[in-house]
Amino acid sequence: MTDHNCESGQVTHLARALKAVGLSLGGRRLLDVGCGTGAALVALEALGAVAPLGLDPRLPEPPAEAWACARLRPGDGAALPYAPGSFDALTFFLSLHHIPRPAQAISEAARVLRRGGLACVTEPLAEGNMYNLERWIDDEAKVRAEAQVALDDALATGLWRQVATLHYQQIEPYDDLATFVDEMLAVGGDLGQARSGRAKQRAHHLAEAFAAVPDGRFEQGYLLRVLQRC
Ligand SMILES: C[S@@+](CC[C@H](N)C(=O)[O-])C[C@H]1O[C@@H](n2cnc3c(N)ncnc32)[C@H](O)[C@@H]1O
Repeated sequence: MTDHNCESGQVTHLARALKAVGLSLGGRRLLDVGCGTGAALVALEALGAVAPLGLDPRLPEPPAEAWACARLRPGDGAALPYAPGSFDALTFFLSLHHIPRPAQAISEAARVLRRGGLACVTEPLAEGNMYNLERWIDDEAKVRAEAQVALDDALATGLWRQVATLHYQQIEPYDDLATFVDEMLAVGGDLGQARSGRAKQRAHHLAEAFAAVPDGRFEQGYLLRVLQRC
């Protein structure tokens, strides 16, 4: 496992990490599971993926751009609406721990990938001062750990072999606490409501955790694991 320090936006660190492990997506049919707005598809296409597709239960309404209509599809990562062997690569970018049944999502990945296909899973870890700030609004330590266990269990089935890992740090700069809180609440819905309540209740802890990083450059640890379908 290698440590790299990657600085940049949320999506470009996916591209940097894939390059750092020497992964080529050239000519691959690719599905990004839990794609959100689909922003990562641009980076994945630039890395050579052929017309990459995205799937997420909550897509932006209406899609931000015309290309998104054709490329993004609503759906659950634990029940992929694709035939066996449809893809050469899958990406789960910061999404596996959000899928309520991560083990089922990996099992679905095994089904829709061709033999030799790759599942590239990037997950935030419960470490670093970014996590130490976030946890007062939404502590994801348990679901992040469960996502890693699901990957370990998948490897134990013999259906996969792990071909690369990369543990790296990403700097997230924040000018002020309000900007960070607004970003956390922007998810909306029930999750946004729950986060809003905790942000109010724990304002003192949040202020302390923010002040602990005087230059506002928060560090978050990520783990990229690349699994190959046997
Ligand atoms: C932190 S966001 C990451 C989004 C995107 N990959 C990005 O980095 O911009 C997690 C995503 O997981 C999605 N998600 C939640 N449950 C899911 C499920 N059952 N199947 C697939 N994606 C899911 C959410 O809707 C959300 O878009």
